[in-house]
Amino acid sequence: MRVLGIETSCDETGVAIFDTERGLVADALYSQIAMHADYGGVVPELASRDHTRKLLPLIQEVLDQANLERRDLDGIAYTAGPGLVGALMVGATTAHGLARALGIPVLGVHHMEGHLLAPMLESEPPAFPFVALLVSGGHTQLVEVRGLGKYRLLGESVDDAAGEAFDKAAKMLGLDYPGGPNVARLAERGDSTRFRFPRPMTDRPGLDFSFSGLKTHTLTTLRKLQSAGQLDEQGKADIARAFEDAVVDTLTIKCRRALDQTGLKRLVIAGGVSANTRLRERLSGEAEKRGARVFYPRGRFCTDNGAMIAYVGAQRLLAGERDDSVMKALPRWSL
Ligand code: KG4
Ligand code: ZN
Repeated sequence: MRVLGIETSCDETGVAIFDTERGLVADALYSQIAMHADYGGVVPELASRDHTRKLLPLIQEVLDQANLERRDLDGIAYTAGPGLVGALMVGATTAHGLARALGIPVLGVHHMEGHLLAPMLESEPPAFPFVALLVSGGHTQLVEVRGLGKYRLLGESVDDAAGEAFDKAAKMLGLDYPGGPNVARLAERGDSTRFRFPRPMTDRPGLDFSFSGLKTHTLTTLRKLQSAGQLDEQGKADIARAFEDAVVDTLTIKCRRALDQTGLKRLVIAGGVSANTRLRERLSGEAEKRGARVFYPRGRFCTDNGAMIAYVGAQRLLAGERDDSVMKALPRWSL
């Protein structure tokens, strides 16, 4: 079965084709980041308009890559949520229109399920069951994954997502959107011993997270340096380092707890923040110590992409699911 996957939930237009016999056969991505950077964040209306401009050319591009015609497709999957409603509508209407014209099934899939199963696209995919840490700009969740669609939420952020905290800290430090990679780059020059930020909610049992306090802590530290006349480049780098260390440490502590609690030996890290090098190093080290193994998607599939949507869509369509008569665009949708 050849399935076209469409991702338009935020600021990346992602399109791919997953073949259930041959694997991923084509993948194309257009990032709107440069356009939104001038505004310091994603502007929803501009995002929708840009998806409209880019989606059809990208669909043609993946068909060309795979040497296929539209009529060779057996199904279409699109991100139905969560995300920006206008952006989601572009993917949903295009998917439904195309599927109707071709007379093939169409399915709306959950964006976070895409992230969750993105490591399945790698040459050594994790076997079920595993614990997954989903860390993106909109979500921070620990999930026990027993199989396709068999998910149990172990814990989640009670306020900001980890990626959102990175983005907000970046803004305070005068860095461009998206903040995560820029904070990480600045933190490389920082001194890890100068400041120590709190590790929120690690002093009590449970697997929930809270990152909004770190934002306040960042601002207070910045102001302190500023009023002491010490807010130079080194000062900013030291703050970035303290912030990154706190987030990485907190995520590591909770992952360790989740592995202990479930008794599982496989940990999947997915979503934009899983691209963070320091987080990867820490989690791999921790996992090794307890005879567990960590799985990541390749860098390109850590952030939003069409391949993960094509993959999830293919598995679900193959299992007989379809929702041809309901066009879905759900800004909020729990996994
Ligand atoms: O999964 P994603 O592309 O989009 C959402 O579904 O949210 O994640 C984007 C988030 C942004 O908040 C971005 O700052 C963060 O992932 N991110 C990072 C890194 N790369 C991306 N955060 C920390 N370190 C990174 N290297
Ligand atoms: Zn995402």
